[in-house]
Amino acid sequence: MNRAVIFYSLDGNTKDAAQKIAEALGAACIEIETAEPMPDGKASRILYGGMLSSLKKRPPIKPLADDPESFDEIILGTPVWAWKCAAPVRSFLADYAVADKVTAVFTCSGGADDSKCIADLKTMLPNIRCTVMLADRNSTYANGNAVRLKKFIAQLRDAE
Ligand SMILES: Cc1cc2nc3c(=O)[nH]c(=O)nc-3n(C[C@H](O)[C@H](O)[C@H](O)COP(=O)(O)O)c2cc1C
Repeated sequence: MNRAVIFYSLDGNTKDAAQKIAEALGAACIEIETAEPMPDGKASRILYGGMLSSLKKRPPIKPLADDPESFDEIILGTPVWAWKCAAPVRSFLADYAVADKVTAVFTCSGGADDSKCIADLKTMLPNIRCTVMLADRNSTYANGNAVRLKKFIAQLRDAE
């Protein structure tokens, strides 16, 4: 099966997970990038990104390196922003008509709860079969990431 891991990452956590998943599955790994850079500084990023996500805004993104429509299945990765998916992921889903191809989602969050983010994504993605929540590298929950990621990858392998 022709699969792609497509992700957005502002601070590298989701990117790190995306690369591990793609490598384990032999899948393409494609980054979503905003057309304009996000502001510098943690507080500005949280304020601006939080506002974008709260209001379900869709900031312009660059064209992806590969056409997502050319893949059979997409594994989507997003940081949790304001209890939702990151705004550039919403842009991706608006720009490319591939929602039906997304069968799995992984999230990276500062806390230990991505339920609202997954509920938000499920309103746009009808075919999600498995999900995993990973914690930011600076979170106390990050020590469980390796086990959660391994289980997620095993589920994806079983689904092949
Ligand atoms: C704009 C913004 C909003 C965030 N909102 C949340 C949130 O609602 N809940 C949470 O647990 N973490 C939140 N975080 C923390 C990120 O989800 C967390 O740091 C994640 O690991 C970042 O992934 P990345 O390194 O791939 O960008 C937020 C971070 C940013 C920048």
